Amino acid sequence: MAILLPGGAGYIGSHTAIELLNAGKEIIIIDNFSNSKPEVLEKIKEITGKDFKFYEIDYLNRKKLEKVFEENEIEAVLNFAGYKAVGESVKKPIEYYTNNISGALVLLDTMKKYNVKKFIFSSSATVYGEPEKVPITEEFKTGGTTNPYGTTKLFIEQILKDIYKSDNSWDICILRYFNPVGAHESGLIGEEPQGIPNNLMPYIVRVAAGKLQELSVFGNDYPTPDGTGVRDYIHVVDLAKGHVLALKKLDEEKQGLFIYNLGTGKGYSVLDMVKAFEKATGKNVPYKIAPRREGDIAECYANPKKAEVELGWKAEKTLEDMCRDSWNYISRQ
Ligand code: WQD
Repeated sequence: MAILLPGGAGYIGSHTAIELLNAGKEIIIIDNFSNSKPEVLEKIKEITGKDFKFYEIDYLNRKKLEKVFEENEIEAVLNFAGYKAVGESVKKPIEYYTNNISGALVLLDTMKKYNVKKFIFSSSATVYGEPEKVPITEEFKTGGTTNPYGTTKLFIEQILKDIYKSDNSWDICILRYFNPVGAHESGLIGEEPQGIPNNLMPYIVRVAAGKLQELSVFGNDYPTPDGTGVRDYIHVVDLAKGHVLALKKLDEEKQGLFIYNLGTGKGYSVLDMVKAFEKATGKNVPYKIAPRREGDIAECYANPKKAEVELGWKAEKTLEDMCRDSWNYISRQ
């Protein structure tokens, strides 16, 4: 029985593939390399010393997807095939809604057809919109997303709740990621955003590498300790391990719909990140204070207690690990 990973060559998918293989699971990756590279597959094999099946297909292609279900015994699906760039989603809403929502629907419908009802969904803290307070627990109300990317996450969560309501033999886990950063400690895989990065850590790394001149700190007048935005940065390997434990939970529970925050529970400001990065890598990160970025919130960090109690999961890696591993990956490119 295999675990199917649509988007398994991407940033979070590839790190999760490694953790699943390390846990002795059989995996199958499908990917169309729209935001990843074929070499990643070889790197996963190199890191784990294990092999797996791969199909180069778009998960929106129902016929080809069905063939994968026809040819293999699939027990669960972890969906990493979503587009994830906030700014791009504002410019390309149709592409985002099609890839993320239609893709998820084709996938779920195919699963239903082949009676595979175990599903883990990569959601995001963005579904909380502007939280009334921090830390954020899973009971907080969702909604108020400010871009199509975030709205696709919110809609797919709702779709999953409705599917479970209609047929409670499904076994579904929604994982709400906070801010994933870092890379595998081998330095062989990591995040490679195309063009100028939007997210903080990839931007810092490129400034440190001399590829970009300086970081713009978006606002220093937020009601936070140093005035800059506070987020819950989580190492991608910790995040990946959360999926292995979520799968274990689904195996034990047989049916249900579960929602977990995957964050560290600690909030760091933009300037904390700059300082931590400089300390961990010895590199200089020049920055200037710039106006606030539209749609940003002051503070966002998780209460990760539920995942700790119910999954036995806790983020273990430090901010230093996140900075060092991000740098280690990029400086090898
Ligand atoms: C973090 C902090 C910025 C860049 C977004 C999505 C979310 C998730 C992760 C994923 C903020 C500040 C940033 C820069 C800056 N999606 N910043 N200068 O906005 O918390 O979350 O990415 O795939 O859904 O909304 O992350 O890394 O963009 O920003 O000062 O050049 O860094 O203002 O306070 P964010 P981020």
